[in-house]
Amino acid sequence: MMKKKEILEFYLDNDLNEIIFEKEQNHFLFGENKKIETKTKQSKQAQQKNIVEPMLSTSQALSELAKKAQKNSNNDKNIATANSVDEASSAKFVPINDIIAAAKKAAAAAKTIAELRKAVENFDGCGLKKMATNTVFSDGNADSKIMVIGEAPGNHEDLQAIPFCGDSGKLLDEMFKSIDLDRSKFYITNVIFWRPPGNRRPTDEELAICRPFVERHIQLVDPKIIILVGSTSMSAILGINDPVTGVRGKVIEYAPNFMKRKINCFVVFHPSYLLRQSGKKRIAWRDFLVIEKELQKS
Ligand code: URA
Repeated sequence: MMKKKEILEFYLDNDLNEIIFEKEQNHFLFGENKKIETKTKQSKQAQQKNIVEPMLSTSQALSELAKKAQKNSNNDKNIATANSVDEASSAKFVPINDIIAAAKKAAAAAKTIAELRKAVENFDGCGLKKMATNTVFSDGNADSKIMVIGEAPGNHEDLQAIPFCGDSGKLLDEMFKSIDLDRSKFYITNVIFWRPPGNRRPTDEELAICRPFVERHIQLVDPKIIILVGSTSMSAILGINDPVTGVRGKVIEYAPNFMKRKINCFVVFHPSYLLRQSGKKRIAWRDFLVIEKELQKS
């Protein structure tokens, strides 16, 4: 008969995962095994959950039961709310082309930047809005000839309704400061006006829905220079899907059909990328010097 230690070693050597019982077991007895299996499952579950369940007094047990009942009823309410939202949204399902057409109409109707801001705030066609705290439209000087366009609001931006006001925004401000620019001298916005959950990349549909507002924004600001921050805004505005590395540091002429003249564009690394890859900051500073030179020309 194998001793408990030997059995354990056997299990370990053979990468088996079975509970060793206090009493020795005959694993070849089918009937016995059945009982053992149930016992084993229970103890495995307890082990996997790593729970130590204390004994409760009657009053504690009743209070625990009351808490559980409350939690379950809250869950039911949440499910009911989620269902009604689902029902409402599925009842009101609108094809993407119709949403984009509505965005175009609302954007075209805006005759000033203030009206455009209102139009974006009132627009319900982008699903991101349902989950966002605020619409994040713009910051800075709308009379400036420099328009900076980033990707989408993050957590700080969502809470404060100001683009680039979190850590990456602080770094971006530092970079502009190095060429003597602050938000009184440039205008800043994003290609998406609501925070994507978990800061995920916006989908193509979300970008397409916001695009009419972004294009109208560019028309109304009428900048001489656009600085695109990161690859998402680069691909949304210029349709370039290459890595930023190959596009940065040079002037790119942007000639959309909704503008009467060309706009000089620059693509820079996104500050959140620079926060992760600080070795790239040197190149980024150099890019800002190129932008400074271009600004001196105009
Ligand atoms: N990143 C962006 O692209 N935009 C913001 O407003 C904030 C972080």
